[in-house]
Amino acid sequence: MSTGLLQRNVPLDNLNSFGLPARANWFAVIDAAKRLIELMSRPEWASLPHFILGGGSNLVLTGDFAGLVLQVRIAGRELIAENTDAWFVRAGAGEKWHDFVCWTLKQGWPGLENLALIPGTVGAAPVQNIGAYGLEMAERFHHLEAVDLETGEEVLLDRADCQFDYRDSVFKREAAGRYLITAVTFRLPKRWQPVTGYADLTQELEVRQIVSPTARQIADAVIAIRLRKLPDPAQIGNAGSFFKNPRVEAATFASLANRYPNLPHYSQPDGTFKLAAGWLIEHCGWKGRPLGPVSVYEHQALVLVNRGGAAGADVLRLARAIQASVQAEFGIQLEPEPVVL
Ligand code: EPU
Repeated sequence: MSTGLLQRNVPLDNLNSFGLPARANWFAVIDAAKRLIELMSRPEWASLPHFILGGGSNLVLTGDFAGLVLQVRIAGRELIAENTDAWFVRAGAGEKWHDFVCWTLKQGWPGLENLALIPGTVGAAPVQNIGAYGLEMAERFHHLEAVDLETGEEVLLDRADCQFDYRDSVFKREAAGRYLITAVTFRLPKRWQPVTGYADLTQELEVRQIVSPTARQIADAVIAIRLRKLPDPAQIGNAGSFFKNPRVEAATFASLANRYPNLPHYSQPDGTFKLAAGWLIEHCGWKGRPLGPVSVYEHQALVLVNRGGAAGADVLRLARAIQASVQAEFGIQLEPEPVVL
């Protein structure tokens, strides 16, 4: 096998925000779509199991990876079109999400401010349809460019193709591992309306005595809330929310609300209710509690943190213990949010 730009036996410890130890048998940096197409044209590489790595901020590594890890570092950001309604802004998949958000705001293009400070890359954003403070990426998404690893061809996928849902998309389901996203184009509205209805954000703007916020002021408020509640992965290893907020049927919600009158809930358009997993976990006594080298973060029970020297198995052990408690207390099965490899 010719190795070219491929590296062997590469440690991934510094490439995942949990700081979990693991190695990739083969590793390649992808800084342009053509580099990937070239690599995939060779059967010896195309046939290896592969894993696509962005910022590694939504990932639990449970051991060494026997195949090829493709680290996406495709750069670039530009306005590609404009009409009376919107700006269409394209970014390379390897751009840091938060830097991209700040850059759009600086250009005077609002729309992504509620998603400020989310760790990770632009290319990873559609995979789990990142969301925060009342906004999901899907609402600003226009299309993406990807390489289909099965055919080696470049494709364009629109919103319908991506099948976005709450922290979910086709890339976590049927198409898992099939596409390497190379660039994403967002549609940023010219008739912008601030999205400030999320309780924490409303309060933060009130405290700041801001009545008609600019997009930048919303970003600043979101950044302040996140800094208070969520651990900085550069300081404490973590992957953001570890569980999705569960959705339950109306009847289940009614009986739970009877037992727990303060149960936070968000009614959904389809008649179901979304519950706050952090609240359920806290009510099982897990907030701030350690299990081995991993613990539940003291300011936000939805986040698991590596207190130093943890392995993926330690994270999964704590996750399973929490799931068992929540199941026993509330009869609800929590679903992990990060990708487990
Ligand atoms: N809560 C508790 N205890 C906790 C944490 C939360 O009682 O330890 C309660 C809060 O008091 C509140 C409710 O749960 O009533 C919701 O809490 P919060 O607003 O902090 O949001 P969350 O549901 O815990 C979700 C997202 C976050 C996102 C925030 C803000 C998921 C899985 N998580 O968290 O996303 O930043 O809302 O929009 O949907 C991520 O996905 O990695 C992430 C951080």
